[in-house]
Amino acid sequence: MCGIVGYAGKNPALLVLLQGLERLEYRGYDSAGVALIENGTLFIEKKVGKIRELIRSVWGKELKATVGIGHTRWATHGEVCELNAHPHTDNRGEFAVVHNGIIENYRELKEELQRLDVEYRSQTDTEAIAHLIALNYQGDLLEAVLKGIKKLKGAYAFAVISVKEPNKIVAVRYGSPLVVGIGRGENFIASDIPALLPFTRKVIPLDDGEVVDLRPDGVHIYDSEGNLLVKEAIDVPWDAISAEKGGFKHFMLKEIFEQPRTLGDTIRGYISRDYHIPFSLRDFRRVIVVACGTSYHAGLVGKYWIEKYARVPVDVVYASELRYSDAPIGEKDIIIAISQSGETADTRFSALSAKDKGATLLSIVNVIGSALDRESDYSLYTHAGPEIGVAATKTFTAQLAVLYSLAISYSEDKERLTENLLKIPGLVEEVLSIADRIREIALKYAGYKNMLYLGRHLSYPVALEGALKLKEISYIHAEGYPAGEMKHGPIALIDEKTPTFVICPKDKVYEKMLSNIEEVLARKGKVIGVGFQGDSELRELCNDLIDVPSVHEDLTPFLTSVPVQLFAYYIADYLGLDVDQPRNLAKTVTVE
Ligand code: F6R
Repeated sequence: MCGIVGYAGKNPALLVLLQGLERLEYRGYDSAGVALIENGTLFIEKKVGKIRELIRSVWGKELKATVGIGHTRWATHGEVCELNAHPHTDNRGEFAVVHNGIIENYRELKEELQRLDVEYRSQTDTEAIAHLIALNYQGDLLEAVLKGIKKLKGAYAFAVISVKEPNKIVAVRYGSPLVVGIGRGENFIASDIPALLPFTRKVIPLDDGEVVDLRPDGVHIYDSEGNLLVKEAIDVPWDAISAEKGGFKHFMLKEIFEQPRTLGDTIRGYISRDYHIPFSLRDFRRVIVVACGTSYHAGLVGKYWIEKYARVPVDVVYASELRYSDAPIGEKDIIIAISQSGETADTRFSALSAKDKGATLLSIVNVIGSALDRESDYSLYTHAGPEIGVAATKTFTAQLAVLYSLAISYSEDKERLTENLLKIPGLVEEVLSIADRIREIALKYAGYKNMLYLGRHLSYPVALEGALKLKEISYIHAEGYPAGEMKHGPIALIDEKTPTFVICPKDKVYEKMLSNIEEVLARKGKVIGVGFQGDSELRELCNDLIDVPSVHEDLTPFLTSVPVQLFAYYIADYLGLDVDQPRNLAKTVTVE
C-alpha cells in the first residue's frame, strides 16, 4: 500500500523522486523518504508526515545524484516515526531499500540476522531485506537480490540501490505492484503508473517473481532464477494532466465532476466493440462476482442487471471472504473480479484461487496492465482515467457502465436499452448542476455523529456506497441497509439524532420505500431523500430532497450515486478533513 518510485538517468534524481512521490501520496501518507547515491555515499532523508515535509527538508540541497529511490509509507509494521520510515539500510550504510507489502517471516529473519551480529534498528519488516542483501552481496547486486528473495515470504515489491554499484537500481515484484517506465537515457520504476506520467507513458508492468536491473541506458528483466526475459512495453493511454487537480479543490471533487466524460468514454468503448467477450455468461451455471469496498457495491448492482438480462444466477462475494471459503467452485463457474486498481490483494488472490479450481476469470479493471488484468482470461476496461482520490467515485459509475453494457448484451431489446444508456452522461451532468444545492443540504447534517442509508433493490447497493463514502472521508458513523431489513433490527437506532438518507427513485419498490420512510418519521428521524424530479409525494415526506432526472428504473444507480458522493464530499470538506487522503486508508490495498 506504500508508494515506491525510482530513477536512474542523467538528470538530478531528487526532483524526479519528489515529483513521483507527490503523485503517489494517495498510496500512503504517514511518512516519506528518499535515498540517493551522492558522491559515492548514500544520502538519506526521511520525514514523518506528508511529502511536503520531506520536500521542505531537502529543499535547497543541491544534490547531483542521478540514481535514487523514494517511498511514501502506509505503516504496517512499526509505529509512524522517522526510524521506521523508508528507506532502510544495512549496518554499513551501503545498501538502501524501499519496500511495499509485508515480509511475513521477518521475525524469523530478524532473529537469524541478530545471531549474525546484525544490529536491527527499526520495528519494520523492511529492514530485514537491506541486511539480507548486504550479507548476500559478493560483487553483484542482482545476484545478491536473487539470493535474498529466496528467503523472503509474503507479498511485496522492493527496490534497492547500493554504493557498490552506483549506476543502477535493482527491484523485485512479488505480489505488490511495480512497473518499469522507459525513457531516453533514463529509466524509472514505480508502484503505480501516475508517478511516471510526467516522464514517460511507455511502461513494462512486472509480473510476480520478476526482478529488474535498471540503469540509465537499459533495463533488463529476469525471472526469479536469474533467466533473462524479453518483455514488451505498453503505451499507457493516460496523460500527466489527467492525474492533476485541474483547478478543483480536491481530486475527489474533480473525479465526481468528470463522470459525464468517464461514463461516456466507457459506454462508447463497449458500443464500439459491440460488447464483445469471446464467450457467453450463459455458458456457465453461475457467475461469482468478487471485489472489495466500492467495487463490491458495483458488483451488487451488476447482480440485478445480469440476472435480469442474462438470466444466469449471480453470487456477489467479498473477495476476502471467498479466498478462504470452502465454496464448491469449478469449471462451470465464471468469476467476475472487479477492481479499479487491478492490484487489490484480496480480489486478485481470491480470483486466482477460483481460476486454479477451473473457473474462468473475467476482470473489470481501470488500470490496463495491472496484475489482475494480466492474470485474467479476459478483461473489460473502465475508461475512467487515473483515480487519485482515495475514495472511489468515477470508477464506481464506470464499473456500473461496464456491468450494464455486459448485461444488456443478452437482451433482445439491446438497441433501445443502449440508446437509453447513451443518455446517462448528459443526465449525470444535470445532477452535477445542482451540486450547490446538495452542498447546502449536506452542511445541515455535518454535525451528526450517526447516519443510516436505506434503499431497496438497485438502490440498496447505492445506500451501501453512500454510507461507505460518508464514513471513510468524514469519519461519521454510517450504516447502509436494505430498507426492508430495517424493521429486523436497525430501526432501534432511529431517533432525532440519527438522520436517515433514503435512495428512493420511482421504481417497482417505490411504494415500499415510502412506507419505510413513514416508519423513520414516526420515530422522529430526519429524512434526506434522493428521488425523481417532480415527486411531490416524496418531497412531502422528506426533510430535504435531492431530485434527479427520472430514468428507466434499471438506470437509477447511475444518477442516485452522484448525490451520495457529493453529500459525503461536502460534509468532509466542511469539517476541514483531508478528503483525498483520509486517515488510515490507502488507495490500493495490496496486503491481506
Ligand atoms: C472506497 C474505496 C475502496 C475500494 C477497495 C477496492 O471508496 O475506494 O473501498 O473500492 O479498496 O479497490 P479496488 O477497486 O482497487 O480493488
